[in-house]
Amino acid sequence: MSDRLEITFAPLNADPETVTVVFAGDGLALGTRAREFDTKSASALSKAAAAADFKGKYKSSIEILAPAKIGVDRLILSGIGKISTLTEQQAVELGGAVLAAIQGRKSNEASVIVDVEGSETLSADEIAALIAQGAMLRHYNFKKYLTKKSNDEGQEKDGLKKLTIQVPHPDKAKAAFQPLKAVANGVNFARDLVNEPANILGPVELAEKTKALEKLGVDVEILDVKDMEKLGMGSLLAVGQGSERQSRLAVMVWNGAKGNKKQKPICFVGKGVVFDTGGISIKPAAGMEDMKGDMGGAAAVIGTMHALAERKANVNAVGLIGCVENMPSGNATRPGDIVTSMSGQTIEVINTDAEGRLVLADVLWYAQEQFKPKLVIDLATLTGAIMVALGKEYAGLFSNEDKLADELLAASRLTGEKMWRMPLDKAFDKMMDSKNADMKNAGGRWAGAATAAAFLQRFIQKDTPWSHIDLAGTAMDGSRNDINTSWGAGWGVRLLNAFVAEYHEKGEK
Ligand code: BES
Ligand code: MN
Ligand code: ZN
Repeated sequence: MSDRLEITFAPLNADPETVTVVFAGDGLALGTRAREFDTKSASALSKAAAAADFKGKYKSSIEILAPAKIGVDRLILSGIGKISTLTEQQAVELGGAVLAAIQGRKSNEASVIVDVEGSETLSADEIAALIAQGAMLRHYNFKKYLTKKSNDEGQEKDGLKKLTIQVPHPDKAKAAFQPLKAVANGVNFARDLVNEPANILGPVELAEKTKALEKLGVDVEILDVKDMEKLGMGSLLAVGQGSERQSRLAVMVWNGAKGNKKQKPICFVGKGVVFDTGGISIKPAAGMEDMKGDMGGAAAVIGTMHALAERKANVNAVGLIGCVENMPSGNATRPGDIVTSMSGQTIEVINTDAEGRLVLADVLWYAQEQFKPKLVIDLATLTGAIMVALGKEYAGLFSNEDKLADELLAASRLTGEKMWRMPLDKAFDKMMDSKNADMKNAGGRWAGAATAAAFLQRFIQKDTPWSHIDLAGTAMDGSRNDINTSWGAGWGVRLLNAFVAEYHEKGEK
């Protein structure tokens, strides 16, 4: 991760020294501390606000030349809108917007004064913690390979390093921030993985990245090619065999369920194709560099496990990622080849570019055999077709169980990571039948995202609640927003964390 942002919480009476943000509500209701500044500086704040037609609208902000008596360089008034109904997600996004306003100042340090009324459900300290999370997410950038201070793309290497947040009760804010920080760390970890180029992050390296979770109490096991051969993972191994770099399967186990150690785990399965050339069915050159992000599903799984473990989630969860590179070579799988998956089912490889499903087939099967999970969720940058259907704003959700789908959709609404439910249907399943094997790996021109899901479902055992999330449009180069300016979005980590927190922790809801 490039430049980290150090966030600390301080009491309200500490005098800020650098760029300072204070909040104003709808209709320009100045927060207590802002009012205090206003008195000190003979209404300079309200005058400046009126001159700029600033009304304290949510996410709006103005910068004010600091009146002499306040003793800070710059003052930013930031709108918090109607605070009584402020939601958690809105507070997080506000944090992102506030950070952006601060970054406009090119200062290394800043203070944010959260001296506001609480909302109906959140105290000022909790709002401050959410703002801090938003700031952490917004602050993320991927500049580790920039060797100059700035470049023509407008990238600046040095920026804000330290953010002090003044709140009524620093200890309470700090405690509220702990789990939020864990989640932001998980998101930023995932972003780093997606942004990292494939020459640095091969399948072995991607698998090794999971070892970073051991210090958080996660048990990590990495299966190599021999292990996978013994298990009969002919489908996954067929994808990686054209690459000089060996395939791996990484398994992360978090046993956090208190009281009930035997609780069946939730399994998260991720597609970890570190680079997808298409193999022998090679992709066109234009835009192929984006296929370094074809491990966005795996990144979301690692990031989620990171978040759950760091915040010591009261749940048993397992993350499994199939790490391969899809390359053409003299040893690559050919169109027409027939492979045998761990499930025993045979697959005719019609198109070597439909490789993600071949990887997932074996990892999904292994997850069910090994862990007898309560439910399975896979995440994969699986099809271009999902982007044709839903664009870069929505991921596609497929599920064989309405309850699971509804929980995921509800979590998605909470975090603003949008999903749209797509159909599983016998008709799509039929399109995957093959003359020469139990199935083929590509279903033809129509309904490409749905036929891919139908293929995956053939590796889901009866009675396993399962969801498949196709994040090809959202994992990388998706729409940028207040809390993400990065190409690798870390999409899904917050959503899956919310799914666990809301529905699978501290007893069932
Ligand atoms: N990794 C791609 C899907 C993808 C494309 C993700 C663009 C992100 C951006 C996947 O492996 C793939 O190539 N899918 C094919 C399947 C087809 C050959 C049946 C596709 O969608 O074209
Ligand atoms: Mn492909
Ligand atoms: Zn792919």
